[in-house]
Amino acid sequence: MFSNRSNWKLTRNRLTEALEEAKARGAGILDLTLSNPTRAGLRYCEHEILSSLALPNSLDYDPQPKGLPVARAAAAAYYQDQHAIGVDPERLILTTSTSEGYSFIFRLLCNAGDEILVPKPSYPLFEFLADLSDVKLVPYPLLYDHGWQIDFPSLRKAVTARTRAVVVVHPNNPTGSFVQADERDQLNRTCHERSLAIIADEVFLDYAHDRRPRASFSANQEVLTFTLSGVSKIAALPQMKVAWIVTSGPSAQVEAALSRLEVIADTYLSMSAPIQWATPTMLEQRKEVQRQLLDRVLANLSELDRRLAAQKTCERLIVDGGWYAILRIPVTRTDEELAVDLVLAEHVLVHPGHFYDFPSDGYIVLSLIAQPNEFAEGMRRVLEHLDK
Ligand SMILES: Cc1ncc(COP(=O)(O)O)c(C=O)c1O
Repeated sequence: MFSNRSNWKLTRNRLTEALEEAKARGAGILDLTLSNPTRAGLRYCEHEILSSLALPNSLDYDPQPKGLPVARAAAAAYYQDQHAIGVDPERLILTTSTSEGYSFIFRLLCNAGDEILVPKPSYPLFEFLADLSDVKLVPYPLLYDHGWQIDFPSLRKAVTARTRAVVVVHPNNPTGSFVQADERDQLNRTCHERSLAIIADEVFLDYAHDRRPRASFSANQEVLTFTLSGVSKIAALPQMKVAWIVTSGPSAQVEAALSRLEVIADTYLSMSAPIQWATPTMLEQRKEVQRQLLDRVLANLSELDRRLAAQKTCERLIVDGGWYAILRIPVTRTDEELAVDLVLAEHVLVHPGHFYDFPSDGYIVLSLIAQPNEFAEGMRRVLEHLDK
């Protein structure tokens, strides 16, 4: 009765079961996997955000496949204000999420069975998005040596006649590594030679830990480039469901891509009117919430370093941006077994590295947007547990 593409293994994993077991026993869990900013105790401009959702214009239905001009102009203004890049709003298409953006682009570029290169380690959602579009994901490694780098020889080897695009996450989740300028040049050369597009996921772009702006792929003109972002991370409003695709590159390819993307977007018309009218306000309040988040991330990172300085068992990997840190730990069991033990014995939830496709055991991923008191107490328990 069902398609092969939806034939997922849907049994719960050991970590989810352990979490339920601990909660059933009444344990209060310190969540060091928190990725939901609306549950992180931030101060939002509540009144402005809520009022923006009740504008009279929202009663008008104006079906525009790329999204309403008012919202596209606000997203383009974000690139101008924050990154000094002039994005033409006509080259920007609104979607309800970056996930929807990915699926539009997969549909645009790939026939069933075509391949997309994705970084490893990275974000676990790609697998499902690819399955739903009948696309095959082929990983290319990021290597760690005093910071993360793209392994270009392996990336080039992974390209086949069926490869259509390379995904970069800038900065990557969870490694927190940006694509460096020389890596961008190499990527452009490789993609140009092999007629591949670039798909750049920039949802964490504004969270550079040294507070220096990083170059956005939305200005990349060398090859056909789709830059994805949205309010879920840059304005810490994932519940509002506003994201976009900026298309850049050689004009003829951009125009051809846009006219096809417009048909894909027109097929769903998934953006609601109130949300689009509220988009300028949601983007305007980002600076205040970004400041709070960066302060939080940096405070948790220095608390982590303070605690790590007092022991010799674990080490933190270098991180340049984003909301996560990676701890290298001794391999005495699988990372999943360790995460299960931490939940049951210490009531602390962390993500095992394998959740992000780390090539070996010995890594856990920590959220740096957790509340500082929870983060400090959670880390105390994790490090004590590892020292036992
Ligand atoms: C790298 C990355 N891209 C995209 C998303 C999802 O963004 P959206 O809520 O816009 O689908 C996430 C969410 O955690 C993410 O980590």
